[in-house]
Amino acid sequence: MEITNIILIGFMGTGKSSIGKRLAKLIDWEFIDTDWEIEETTGLSVLEMFRKHGEVRFRSEEALVVRRLEEKAHCVIATGGGTILNPENWEIIKNMGLVICLYASLDTILERVSNRNDRPLLKRSREEIEELWSSRQAFYNQAQIIIDTTDQDIDGVLEDVIKKIKEEGFELNELAED
Ligand code: S3P
Repeated sequence: MEITNIILIGFMGTGKSSIGKRLAKLIDWEFIDTDWEIEETTGLSVLEMFRKHGEVRFRSEEALVVRRLEEKAHCVIATGGGTILNPENWEIIKNMGLVICLYASLDTILERVSNRNDRPLLKRSREEIEELWSSRQAFYNQAQIIIDTTDQDIDGVLEDVIKKIKEEGFELNELAED
């Protein structure tokens, strides 16, 4: 089976952008990050957007970006952790190609994001982050492929992603051959 696009979903800190960028480079597809698209079109960082205009405005910018991506092909797309919670976004994304979820345990996520300050939704207590993380798992589990990135480095995750794509019977171009 041929893949039109590969879309990465999952919680913050699961490696969607790092893995997406590496995968796109490997198979020579375009890499798109929805957060970067929002930053480019609005001229504000995600953090500034949340601070100046709030989450509601961020979510509407995010939905506009997703709508613009609908006709894309041969792209690896890293979504924001909340993108697919909007049913309209999910409807578009699931029809765009192979959806892969990157999973990580809460401890791993907290460790990975501990020295970063750019995620407004993580500026809260562990209990609150845990609640957010738990409440979203059912959405992420809608992906066709789920990769556990806990205790793995980028190379290991990338290898897993490629292996799983092939195991599921999808074709990647010859560049992904080892
Ligand atoms: C969000 C995740 C972020 C970014 C925004 C909101 C979320 O993206 O879109 O801060 O709701 O989970 P990453 O998952 O790339 O950090």
